[in-house]
Parts: sequence; C-alpha cells; structure tokens
Amino acid sequence: MKENKATKTIVLGVTGSIAAYKAAELVRRMQQQGWDVWVMMTEAAAKYVGPLTFQALTKHPVAVGKCEAVESSTYQHLDLSGRAAVMVVAPCTANVLAKLAHGLADDVVTATVLAAAGPVVVAPAMNERMWRNPATQANVKTLKERGVLVLDVGEGELACGDVGAGRLIELEHIVAAVAQTMKEG
Ligand SMILES: Cc1cc2nc3c(=O)[nH]c(=O)nc-3n(C[C@H](O)[C@H](O)[C@H](O)COP(=O)(O)O)c2cc1C
Repeated sequence: MKENKATKTIVLGVTGSIAAYKAAELVRRMQQQGWDVWVMMTEAAAKYVGPLTFQALTKHPVAVGKCEAVESSTYQHLDLSGRAAVMVVAPCTANVLAKLAHGLADDVVTATVLAAAGPVVVAPAMNERMWRNPATQANVKTLKERGVLVLDVGEGELACGDVGAGRLIELEHIVAAVAQTMKEG
C-alpha cells in the first residue's frame, strides 16, 4: 500500500487462540479502511497461523515471540508502539489478558502494549469457562479501569464444541471500535 502522512499505522498483536486464523481476514478489513497494518505474534499464535501469511498480507516483517533485535529495527517494540495510532490485540488469549493486566512484557506483543503511546483495543477469545473465571474477569476489569478498550466476546458455538460466551467478537465490530478509538484520539 502507498504510504502518506495521513495513513494511520495499526499494530495488531495476534495471540495463541484457535481464533488466530481470523486475524488474517481482520488484517484485510483494516487495510480496506486505508490503515497500514503491522502484525506481531506470540510464539503460540505462530502455531495456529504462519507469520508468512501476515507478512504477505501486510508487506511488512512480522515479529514473533521474544523481543529480539531484527534487521529492520533493534527496538521494534518501541518503534511500532510509538508510531501506532491504535494497538490492537485480537484475538487475545486469557494468558495475554492476564499478562497485560499485570504489566508483564516478556514477548514482543506484551512489550509493545506496555510501551504503547496511544490507545489499546483488546478483543478476547477463549473457552467460556476461561472467560467466566473470576481471574479473567478481574483482569478485564483492571484493564478497563486503566483505559484499555476491552471488547465483549461473542456467544455461540466455540471451537472446543461448547456453546456459550467466549468467541472472538465479529470482525466488523473490532474494525468499528478501532475506527471510533481513532476518532476520539
Ligand atoms: C487447540 C487449542 C486452542 C486454544 N484456544 C485458546 C483460546 O481460544 N483462547 C485462549 O485463551 N487460550 C487458548 N488455548 C490455550 C493457549 O494456546 C495457551 O494458553 C498458550 O500458552 C497461549 O499463549 P499466548 O497467550 O502467549 O499466545 C488453546 C490451546 C489449544 C491447544
């Protein structure tokens, strides 16, 4: 995509949920808004979708796992977190939600969120029992109190076969939330 000064940079952190495959379509939907999307992934996420998928879609390198110096930038987590109009984590696992609530930064996704200079939008996805667990709900509450936009989960059939709350919210809702956050920021 052609970059100009008005192009908004979105950093999308993808984590190790079965819904990670939906992040590829999310990238396309964000690009249709004219946004320049950069993807980073946890090590677990890379087991569900290959980084090459995101690299091909975004035409940008994809950082995975631990923070490491890469050819393009030694401080990629800081460079991108400083430039992002909005940092989005979708899908966000129960594990990453907990890490974010506690300020952990042991991989490129969590380190970038911790260093984010702008708004953060999180779209959780997990099994219903994980979602309803008081620990997860306390983490959601903590993040909301800090100004993180934690989106609702969807309800319906879950990948594990259960029916209930925990699905990744529909992609159009994520895109709309990011657009609204941008407008407010
Ligand atoms: C098939 C499968 C699907 C999973 N889906 C989810 C999920 O949707 N949400 C979640 O929070 N954890 C899920 N997990 C567990 C996470 O993959 C696990 O907690 C992992 O350590 C998360 O790593 P990350 O948070 O660093 O990405 C799943 C595990 C397996 C084996």
